[in-house]
Amino acid sequence: MDYTLLNNGVKIPMLGLGTYRIGRTDDDVYNAIRTALDMGYRHIDTATLYENEAPIGKAIRESGIPREDIFVTTKLWGDDVLKNEIPQAFDQSMQLLDIGYVDLYLVHWPVKGKLVSTWREMEKIYASDKAKAIGLSNHLQHHLEEILDEANVLPAVNQVEMHPYVVLNDLVDFCEENAIVCEAWSPLGSSKVPLLEEKILREIGDKYGKSPAQVVLRWNIERGVVAIPKSSNKERQAANLDIFDFKLTPEDVQLINSLDKNYRTGIHPDEIGF
Ligand SMILES: NC(=O)c1ccc[n+]([C@@H]2O[C@H](COP(=O)([O-])OP(=O)(O)OC[C@H]3O[C@@H](n4cnc5c(N)ncnc54)[C@H](OP(=O)(O)O)[C@@H]3O)[C@@H](O)[C@H]2O)c1
Repeated sequence: MDYTLLNNGVKIPMLGLGTYRIGRTDDDVYNAIRTALDMGYRHIDTATLYENEAPIGKAIRESGIPREDIFVTTKLWGDDVLKNEIPQAFDQSMQLLDIGYVDLYLVHWPVKGKLVSTWREMEKIYASDKAKAIGLSNHLQHHLEEILDEANVLPAVNQVEMHPYVVLNDLVDFCEENAIVCEAWSPLGSSKVPLLEEKILREIGDKYGKSPAQVVLRWNIERGVVAIPKSSNKERQAANLDIFDFKLTPEDVQLINSLDKNYRTGIHPDEIGF
């Protein structure tokens, strides 16, 4: 596993497990997380929206792995911003997770007109030391600029949809210039686009004995982007973790970048209905 440092010195594993729809029942979620932790995952990404914080927290508590060895992210949902219930939403996540603290608390989506006031509340949560780092998700450069102008605590992370169909080099560069670590959600393109069937990815993978999914995840790591692929399946979880024993060439990276069509599988951050 590779790690990088957030701008406040907190260490984050470059690869984590996404958990959106990772299981239909709490038992499914619990088992998927225990399986992942047992095989070496040390970074779990959840959110209020996913309604799985309780079984994830239970799996972490019962894993036998020291709490400080696991990096846990959860996220603030926009409805709670609109209701002015940010502290309550955080407390609810803390109660459901029941793991003492979270490593990273993210604003899930920008809420129009409330970017800076939301960030002020996030700063208070950070000051409570119950979130070791705070950050953003689905924030474009103009959202980040608005917050950076006013921030007392710099956002540590920006988690956005990012894969070879939506490369977002400018946003990655802007985040790097501002000491914000980028995280890729749907790093495999989710199951909504045939990204993993791309011939280029297959051909590159064949050189290293790796699958298209492993090539795509490695591409993220090498551009300094943390990736959080979701898999409910033990073999695919293991494959997604097995990307730290090969390196892409600059030519490989260029070929992967050439797949870019600025195509999002999810909502454009300026069009979210909050
Ligand atoms: N911040 C946000 O707004 C936001 C939005 C969306 C997602 N996220 C986070 O990002 C995580 C990942 O995104 P995602 O779940 O949308 O998509 P993803 O990780 O890109 O793709 C998941 C899909 O790929 C399949 N898969 C996983 N590993 C594979 C492999 N090695 N080979 C082939 N197929 C594979 C999974 O199926 P199996 O499970 O059957 O393996 C699943 O259908 C989420 O779980 C969530 O934590 C955040």
